[in-house]
Amino acid sequence: MYKILICHIKAKSLSLHKHIFMSITILGIESSCDDTSAAVIRDGEMLSNIIANQDVHIKYGGVVPELASRAHQQNIIPVVERAIKEARISKNELSAIAFTRGPGLLGSLLVGSSFAKGLSLSLDIPLIEINHLQAHILVHFIKQKDKIPPSFPFLCLLISGGHTQIIKVKDYFEMEVLGTTIDDAAGEAFDKCAKVLGLPYPGGPHIDKLAKMGNPKKFNFTKPSVADYNFSFSGLKTNFLYFINDNVKLNSNFIEENIYDLCASIQHIIIEILIDKLKKVIKNTGIKEIAIAGGVSANSMLKETLISVSEKNKWICHIPEFKLTTDNAAMIAITGYYKFLKNDFTNQKTSATARYNL
Ligand code: KG4
Ligand code: ZN
Repeated sequence: MYKILICHIKAKSLSLHKHIFMSITILGIESSCDDTSAAVIRDGEMLSNIIANQDVHIKYGGVVPELASRAHQQNIIPVVERAIKEARISKNELSAIAFTRGPGLLGSLLVGSSFAKGLSLSLDIPLIEINHLQAHILVHFIKQKDKIPPSFPFLCLLISGGHTQIIKVKDYFEMEVLGTTIDDAAGEAFDKCAKVLGLPYPGGPHIDKLAKMGNPKKFNFTKPSVADYNFSFSGLKTNFLYFINDNVKLNSNFIEENIYDLCASIQHIIIEILIDKLKKVIKNTGIKEIAIAGGVSANSMLKETLISVSEKNKWICHIPEFKLTTDNAAMIAITGYYKFLKNDFTNQKTSATARYNL
């Protein structure tokens, strides 16, 4: 009996040891634009996700690339240290380091990629390069309680400050862009219209907040007519700018008196443009499982609309958790995890790239 018990304890500790040994622990590093972020993912589960925003850009009304790189340089060490500490691991437990290779601002990307290369060299662990756009989509595969990941193939509406695309996701790393913007991105439309209204950068969250108190049908703006599954937002932005200028000439308090309705109306049209195209793609492809990703997917009205349209049309719709919508390193780490599983590593010769297609 005594012998059996010892054997049992031994076997148990062995299997525990094996489990720890076999765990895949990825440190993700994201620095493509104006957020410095580091995260730890272990076996697909998020242990930490630290994001340092850069307030330095607010007074300029947009991201100043030079200032962004400098802020990344200041933030990167404390952010990585906090991510490791919050994950309650030691850096020696890391299996690999995943970093954003692109697309993004080159100076910003260089900070994250150089740091990742240095750390991988000093810890003697593999390096994994990540496409930021793929990562926005794969954020849906972070293992979370009560959350079922999308099943392949599904459609992803990727909407951020730099991109607006409808993607057919056939597998983790097999993605086909079905439609894209021919000019501005949806996030840019939010930010530029917000700027016209005198709201701080980034304008998307401000429009979202103020729109809650407004009437979305008060003002009408022209919807663009764009072929296929593509988008266009630059005409809408100009339409909005002229409309505001004309009205301000007649009444200098026009913006202040109508701020809620203006936000609600511009938000309404942007959402309508996005959903209309999504409906078209779903109708033609027959794929009824959809996901949204990227900063604009944080928009509360978009989420509400999508949920109700999905219920009506029997679509399966996946919406990321709020903190996983905008730029974050958890999405980089989870993508790194899936690349690790297929032994897809890079080496010290890798370099950041501002342009990087899916
Ligand atoms: O994905 P992201 O953090 O960075 C890029 O890769 O571009 O997206 C940033 C964009 C900005 O344009 C910002 O205004 C927009 O996402 N955004 C929103 C909301 N939160 C962030 N747009 C509309 N409503 C929001 N709640
Ligand atoms: Zn992004």
